[in-house]
Amino acid sequence: MTTGLWIIVDHVVALLSVAAWFAAGVSLALRRTRLALAAGAAAVLVTLVRVVTVAILAGRGWWFVQEKVLLGLPLLGAAGAAAVLLAGPQLLATRRGRAAGGSARGVVSVLTAGYAALAGLVVTLLVGYPLTLSTALITISLVGVGALLTARVVALPAEKAADTGVAQAPVGRRPISRRRFLGWTGGAVVVTAAGAGAGLSFLPAESVTTGGGRGRSSRSAVSVADLRGSGSPASGGTVRRHVLTAKKATVRLPSGREIDAWTYNGEVPGPAITATQGDLLEVRLRNTDIEGGVTLHWHGYDVPCGEDGAPGVTQLTVAPGEEFVYRFRADQVGTYWYHTHHASHVGVHKGLYGTLVVTPRGGPRADAHSAAEQVDLALPVHTFDGTVVIAGSDGQTQHSAPPGAPVRLRLINTDSDPHRIVLAGTPFRVVAVDGRDLNRPGEVRDVGLRLPAGGRYDLVFLMPDTPVALVVDDDRDGGLRLRPQGDAPAEARIEDTSGLPELDLLRYGTPAAVSFDTRNADRHFTMVLDRGVALVDGRPAYAQTVNGRGHPAIPDQLVVEGDVVRFTVVNRSLETHPWHLHGHPVLILSRDGTPSTGSPLWVDTFDVRPGQTWEVAFRATNPGIWMNHCHNLPHAHQGMMLRLRYDGVTTPFGGSHGGGPGHGH
Ligand code: C2O
Ligand code: CU
Repeated sequence: MTTGLWIIVDHVVALLSVAAWFAAGVSLALRRTRLALAAGAAAVLVTLVRVVTVAILAGRGWWFVQEKVLLGLPLLGAAGAAAVLLAGPQLLATRRGRAAGGSARGVVSVLTAGYAALAGLVVTLLVGYPLTLSTALITISLVGVGALLTARVVALPAEKAADTGVAQAPVGRRPISRRRFLGWTGGAVVVTAAGAGAGLSFLPAESVTTGGGRGRSSRSAVSVADLRGSGSPASGGTVRRHVLTAKKATVRLPSGREIDAWTYNGEVPGPAITATQGDLLEVRLRNTDIEGGVTLHWHGYDVPCGEDGAPGVTQLTVAPGEEFVYRFRADQVGTYWYHTHHASHVGVHKGLYGTLVVTPRGGPRADAHSAAEQVDLALPVHTFDGTVVIAGSDGQTQHSAPPGAPVRLRLINTDSDPHRIVLAGTPFRVVAVDGRDLNRPGEVRDVGLRLPAGGRYDLVFLMPDTPVALVVDDDRDGGLRLRPQGDAPAEARIEDTSGLPELDLLRYGTPAAVSFDTRNADRHFTMVLDRGVALVDGRPAYAQTVNGRGHPAIPDQLVVEGDVVRFTVVNRSLETHPWHLHGHPVLILSRDGTPSTGSPLWVDTFDVRPGQTWEVAFRATNPGIWMNHCHNLPHAHQGMMLRLRYDGVTTPFGGSHGGGPGHGH
């Protein structure tokens, strides 16, 4: 069973234990002895099962259980044991007719076990990893306060009952006096407040984490504003100039459907930017009427940091009427895309994106086919109001290709959720992932490909003399059809693709040497992804968190140029998090402890599914301050975003006009 499933099972068992303890407590208070016995037995049993589920999760990683092992279970164990000792013998006696009903003590102790179970679950759901001392203190005090309040309430009817001589008064224990009660409660509140205060005072202290490497030095500062791109193309290259103007527009899709989009140049996707390796790209961004401002981020392209388009970090947002010129050499070959990085959960979603494709210069032609015979399509997949739009077309897109022609389909996921891609009707190779070529990828067919948010796959095949279908999310009516030339666009039946197995890229292609020693990292950062209550842009929210915090309160990761850096990314939540680092591709080392055994896999976005743990590494060779975030853009907006900072690099753009880094997404 996957760790993700065990997380769910553990949540369910935890919930059942809460229900069982409360059921036992309430039935005891109502003097329903048999019910109380049954519920109590169930509570004990479920609590023991919980120990098992937590133990299994612990085997998957300490991150999944820390707060359960250190707080939730001990608290529940103690309260549960007390409940059994206090209420158990008496219940059994009652059952044998030797006593009547439950004592206040019994009721309070069983309900307290319920509070403990609930507190543990709440801590897991709202706080998670890492557990702090203040969280533990607050939780314990709240359970204590709950017990005292319950004692107070439960004791009252008992006093009255004793007065009127009706039911049984509590055995052997007088109700707690008001003075003592107030004293205890007051004490608990003080402890809680002190704990919370201590916890909060720790918050701003660490703005940087060093991952085990040395801390900030006093090296002379470089501003990201000075880390700009080259002014000239490589020899033989040309300068390619583009003007992209961000503006609102109503875009008509081929089906006739109209969307209210935010666009670059009135088009969705924006103008396709292409270059030959070594060309200089000069892109002038203007903004007509996107009030919040826009930028251009070159997703997956390792531009100099000053060209990266991260508002509040590498530049100010481009407000209506303003402009910003990006300039960089297209040295990196492959399939990329660009998008706004300001409030991108809105901007990209509404259409502020386009493709960037760089082809090799000069290199020997792969085969004898002339360029005219080749089919090379950039296919950004985007969803507008539930409609999948591929390269600007909704519904089904038709293309033709001469049989025998080499075809390259460049799939780009510009959405925030993964897409499932199936290529039916031909064997093919996945020759590149996230723009980087794989080493000797084998031919595959009848497989599904899971394309993470932000990710790219280049699929290559020779056109057969029968039709080929690209199916997205198993929707056989949409997608793309490639027909051999002359073939009438008649019915080509496509089998159901939903049952096809998923190609595991960690076992695809052939291993090859990589340029650095991944085992001896200079720095190692662990990012535990979850949901929880945290500050996001200074406001409390039910956030998407990294190590329990939301942007911008997540400490920067400090690196020094030349460092080998390792990331461990753990997903404790029930949602997929496509992790994305700017400015550097990362090499996948392992997933859930299983090493990558195929081609070296260099990616800029990897899907960390619920319960998964990924290990990746890279060499820090591109100085700057780089966003490091979840590419589910609403998640980034809800806090799941931090910065990787090179020692000595500063930014002048953290001020108000940039909207602050907190508004980067
Ligand atoms: Cu494609 Cu920070 O983003
Ligand atoms: Cu996410």
